[in-house]
Amino acid sequence: MARRIISTELTEEDQSVESSLRPQRLEDYIGQQKAKENLKIYIEAAKQRKEALDHVLFFGSPGLGKTTLAGIIANEMRVNLKITTGPAIEKPGDIVAILNNLQEGDLLFIDEIHRLNRQVEELLYPAMEDFAVDIVIGKGATAKAIRLGLPKFTLVGATTRAGMLSAPLRDRFGVVHRLEFYTVEELKQIILRSAKMLNVEIDEKGAIELAKRSRGTPRLANRLLKRVRDFAQVKYNGKINGEVAEFALDLLEVDRLGLDNIDREILVAMIEKFNGGPVGIEAVATTIGEDSGTVEEVYEPYLVQTGLIVRTPRGRMVTQLAYQHITLHPKKA
Ligand code: ADE
Repeated sequence: MARRIISTELTEEDQSVESSLRPQRLEDYIGQQKAKENLKIYIEAAKQRKEALDHVLFFGSPGLGKTTLAGIIANEMRVNLKITTGPAIEKPGDIVAILNNLQEGDLLFIDEIHRLNRQVEELLYPAMEDFAVDIVIGKGATAKAIRLGLPKFTLVGATTRAGMLSAPLRDRFGVVHRLEFYTVEELKQIILRSAKMLNVEIDEKGAIELAKRSRGTPRLANRLLKRVRDFAQVKYNGKINGEVAEFALDLLEVDRLGLDNIDREILVAMIEKFNGGPVGIEAVATTIGEDSGTVEEVYEPYLVQTGLIVRTPRGRMVTQLAYQHITLHPKKA
């Protein structure tokens, strides 16, 4: 599959941009009002009691700010932040080493926590609950199990697939937050803030145009901002206004709803070949020459979230909005 500009996967380029733009304090974080309000109280309370914060689980689509929030919590609690991912912790020894190196109050962030292997996950249960790990020393008849005490730490877990987390692991998080897609207004504010930090001139209309096409996702908003800045620099006088943003995003083939050509092909195929549905995902995938798993996991969620497709027991159907959108913008933006 070719890389899509609107993919929410983290790229190397995003990584450097994101680390420079990432808000450091809760008060600078835009959106996710509910998570923010709750975290503010929990952080304050833990600080007053001089205790580690309860373990926190964030779930939600990629690019919505899970890592950013973990960083903010560590900052606000004034503790060290250790970052790792589920697949990177291969053996029980790896997690024991990580835990054993933590200091009192430290925050351990495990991204993609649903991808931890079973043995590692089971070691985490007593670590989270009792701040201890059980390890076996020696072999055979002389093997001995000992309990190793750990400093009180906070585990922040993040997952894009809440349903794939085992119940015993999920139950050990005291705080669970689902991160929502951002509104156009919130994305506009994020874009204006990022533009200021990147020294890019952008007006309100330019920011709104970018916000509308960013699929509710700050990672995309910041990525598109950088691309549009390049257009503005080369083709215009460096300033991004509504017209420049529209022109650049049309060229990038990201349309007014944030759809790319493949998203549109899916809608067109459903309308023209299947009368708008109901139709099975396999049939749609075959028509556009894609793998059905990819259509289901990569393309469909945003189409459903935007209200262009509905899932019914008899298959997928396009909505009135999809008809309108495709009629008004049959090709490209
Ligand atoms: N940059 C990326 N996400 C952000 C957010 N939620 N608030 C402020 N700046 C951001």
